[in-house]
Amino acid sequence: MEQVNYYLINMEFLVILLFSSSSSSSSMAATIKHFKWHVEYKHWSPDGVEGTVLAINGRFPGPTIRARAGDTINVELTNKLTTEGLVIHWHGIPQIGTPWADGTASISQCPINAGETFVYRFKVPKAGTYFYHGHYGMQRSAGLYGSLIVDVAEGETEPFRYDGEFNLLLSDWWHKSSHDQDLDLSSAPMRWIGEPQSLLINGRGQFNCSLAAHFSKARISPCSFRGGEQYAPYILHVRPNMTYRLRLASTTALSALNFAIGEHKLVVVEGDGNYLKPFSVDNMDIYSGETYSVLFTTNQNPSQNYFISITVRGREPKTPPALTLLNYDDDHRHPTRPPPVAPRWDDYDASIAFSNKILALEGSPKPPSHYHRRIVLLNTQNLIDGYTKWAINNVSLVLPTTPYLGSIKYGIPNAFDPKGPPDRFGDEEGYDITRPAPIQTAVYGSGVYVLRFNTTVDVVLQNANVLKANVSEIHPWHLHGHDFWVLGYGAGKFRDVDEAGFNLRNPPLRNTAVVYPYGWTALRFVADNPGAWAFHCHIEPHLHMGMGTVFVEGARRVRIPTPVAAEALACGLTGKWLMSHNPGHH
Ligand code: C2O
Ligand code: CU
Repeated sequence: MEQVNYYLINMEFLVILLFSSSSSSSSMAATIKHFKWHVEYKHWSPDGVEGTVLAINGRFPGPTIRARAGDTINVELTNKLTTEGLVIHWHGIPQIGTPWADGTASISQCPINAGETFVYRFKVPKAGTYFYHGHYGMQRSAGLYGSLIVDVAEGETEPFRYDGEFNLLLSDWWHKSSHDQDLDLSSAPMRWIGEPQSLLINGRGQFNCSLAAHFSKARISPCSFRGGEQYAPYILHVRPNMTYRLRLASTTALSALNFAIGEHKLVVVEGDGNYLKPFSVDNMDIYSGETYSVLFTTNQNPSQNYFISITVRGREPKTPPALTLLNYDDDHRHPTRPPPVAPRWDDYDASIAFSNKILALEGSPKPPSHYHRRIVLLNTQNLIDGYTKWAINNVSLVLPTTPYLGSIKYGIPNAFDPKGPPDRFGDEEGYDITRPAPIQTAVYGSGVYVLRFNTTVDVVLQNANVLKANVSEIHPWHLHGHDFWVLGYGAGKFRDVDEAGFNLRNPPLRNTAVVYPYGWTALRFVADNPGAWAFHCHIEPHLHMGMGTVFVEGARRVRIPTPVAAEALACGLTGKWLMSHNPGHH
């Protein structure tokens, strides 16, 4: 009997294996990578101060997934939390043909209940630097994240050479728990969570001390390179005259960051899993939701060590830089030069100049020359019944109980607002983006933008003033299920004539793009991936306060496998509906 089962399982495995390798264009060697994860809260000291983190298999950050382009990832995820649901989103992975595996609560699936297991199974079609993170409530802020790195398929090569590689996952950390932060943000009046206590590199930071204390005029105590096991800095050990690839991914909850290595140039070659036209800089910005690969060459004095520094941009920093070492030397000797100096936090010209250097590598896919629909999205902060919210074209997103993917696929009535949000913010001529939004104009909403399958969509994100006078913030917008071309950035209010300045020649493909204060950003993508896809500001508190929307395309083409339908789409439905439709009996 056991023997029979054994063969059955192997037969199934073989069939899947054959199917997946034959459907992969890149290689015969595509495989399935199996992971078994459990998620639980753990006591942890990310910056030397003990708090709680969401740990995967007892680790923070979660384990790094490494695969090759064309591989299938199979993660069997068990929720060991006692009173909370859970999902994990695979940031930057397009989920072509598997929209139910996108890991977005209320959009692609129900939260996995406490004690239950859900299997994420999806392909990683393209080499690049990615990451994964919680996408329910503020679970990303609680530390539910890790790296996902996809190498080129067997036999293929990257368009650049390097001798070694490092991977840095960047995040920010509060001593207040994510549950307290959630309550603060959802209270009336809202209590702002403030700036993070620490910045983390691979989950490691240093609270209230500095590795460069002896260079600093401010009185701050020195910390050691050999701190505790959980927060000792991650040091990059290098050899002279080599070229290294450094992968950077930012999963910060709030902070925009600037990255630099003392005395070393950075050559940017990849962004969000797409090759870029290489360019060289002394320091670079990275926003939450973005990833990069940069090359650097160890051509400096090999008897010295150098600081690697990460600083806050775009908000007046109350958080000290995160520092670690580029270590040529065997011992962790202190650099003789101070950490590299980042641009001033509010030097937006430097940031815009950096953004404008980012162009696609020659030979990259080009955008269609025309669009079918343009959606202009005004980003405002509003008050709704005393609650501070963010709104997009005056609609502050409230997610429904039943995930869009299921309710649309199965035609469940009243699962969300039937009326989609508007393509324009209304008062195009009269709206003054330099002033706070007029009182009581925004409403709550759960409607979606339904995009015609295979059409080209332009989205113009329009920034504006927050509720406080003379303040406009940075918002990194992230799209699920697609890459988009970043056609351009502009200052002030977008006008139709600005279209003439769009870059259609070599715009970069990204999945995240920043909108600068009082400015606009124009994106173009093709709605060719059947599913329901989140599009939102990647700042966790902003999304939590409604700063997002949902695109639905090709919903009728989605074929949800029976077990997934039952386990992942049936929350919020009445028993009666389930009995009469029984989408997933098994
Ligand atoms: Cu990395 Cu919807 O986010
Ligand atoms: Cu935002």
